[in-house]
Amino acid sequence: MKTIFSGIQPSGTITLGNYIGAMKQFVELQEEYNCYFCIVDQHAITVPQDRLVLRNNIRSLAALYLAVGIDPEKTTLFIQSEVPAHAQAGWMLQCVAYIGELERMTQFKDKSHGKEAVSAGLLTYPPLMAADILLYNTDLVPVGEDQKQHIELTRDLAERFNKKYNDIFTIPEVRIPKVGARVMSLQDPMKKMSKSDPNTKSFITLLDDPKQIEKKIKSSVTDSDGIVKYDKENKPGVSNLLSIYSILSGKSIEELEAAYENKGYGDFKGDLAALVVETIKPIQDKYNELMASSELDEILDKGAEKANRAASKMIKKMENAMGLGRKRK
Ligand code: TYM
Repeated sequence: MKTIFSGIQPSGTITLGNYIGAMKQFVELQEEYNCYFCIVDQHAITVPQDRLVLRNNIRSLAALYLAVGIDPEKTTLFIQSEVPAHAQAGWMLQCVAYIGELERMTQFKDKSHGKEAVSAGLLTYPPLMAADILLYNTDLVPVGEDQKQHIELTRDLAERFNKKYNDIFTIPEVRIPKVGARVMSLQDPMKKMSKSDPNTKSFITLLDDPKQIEKKIKSSVTDSDGIVKYDKENKPGVSNLLSIYSILSGKSIEELEAAYENKGYGDFKGDLAALVVETIKPIQDKYNELMASSELDEILDKGAEKANRAASKMIKKMENAMGLGRKRK
């Protein structure tokens, strides 16, 4: 059976972008693959975090993974910092990565742009991400479009390591959804929807209440021609809403264009808001149940145990390949 790894940062509440671009795929993929899904808290601290908020976000993300339908019987769900092999392998891969290639990562450039003090961790973020993936002999990495460059670097680092030391890593492939790989901001449809956007009207989170969702969709930026038509270049706002609608309803863009042919944006946005609320409601119900139970800790303990077992085997292989420590079997 092929192996899948993916991670999400607990740096805020999961957005509709994270759900559509990543989580929704995870739920489908767990039926066919051996899956590892991770709460990457060590990646979250590459930018400043409040300790209590971070703790809360970690727990909340774990509950959301389960609430959207991740089944702990089928997958391994765990917290990155509870598996020390990630930081160990991250260090070894930092020593394989070049500063130049890390500085060229668009996420690093975006997140460091205009900042006076940038953590070294923000630069070495991709080797840690490569460690996450390579520790589990991962074949496939399902992510949104914005992570593609990091997966390409992971492949480069794995190939470089295999060539320089020993052929131990599986070279992973990226898997990006055909529709919804880049859900855009509701306020600036040229920018991706992001949980760290200071304008909270620009994103919908899986924990927003129905009123907030309706407000955010109704006030989303579109255009003034009043035609519900997919045209990414000239109508980025409407096109983004159409993509979201299409994915959540299972209807094609053409079907939706036809359904709203002689209707205005009011009807279209109203129906989309109702659909988003309807999608999110059962997730929130399950989430509230999980947050109040002790089930969550048991699942995370088991997940960490399983991940630790698998990852420590790869650490030994990496250390032997690089000549670290003493030879072990
Ligand atoms: P993160 O936490 O920013 O996002 C989690 C996942 O959601 C996807 N995503 C989106 N998809 C569509 N539209 C959007 N607007 C949107 N915003 C986010 C992301 O592409 C991602 O799949 N570096 C990663 C976390 C990570 C990881 C890994 C992923 C750490 N180690 C190993 C895969 C494998 C990140 O910051 O994702």
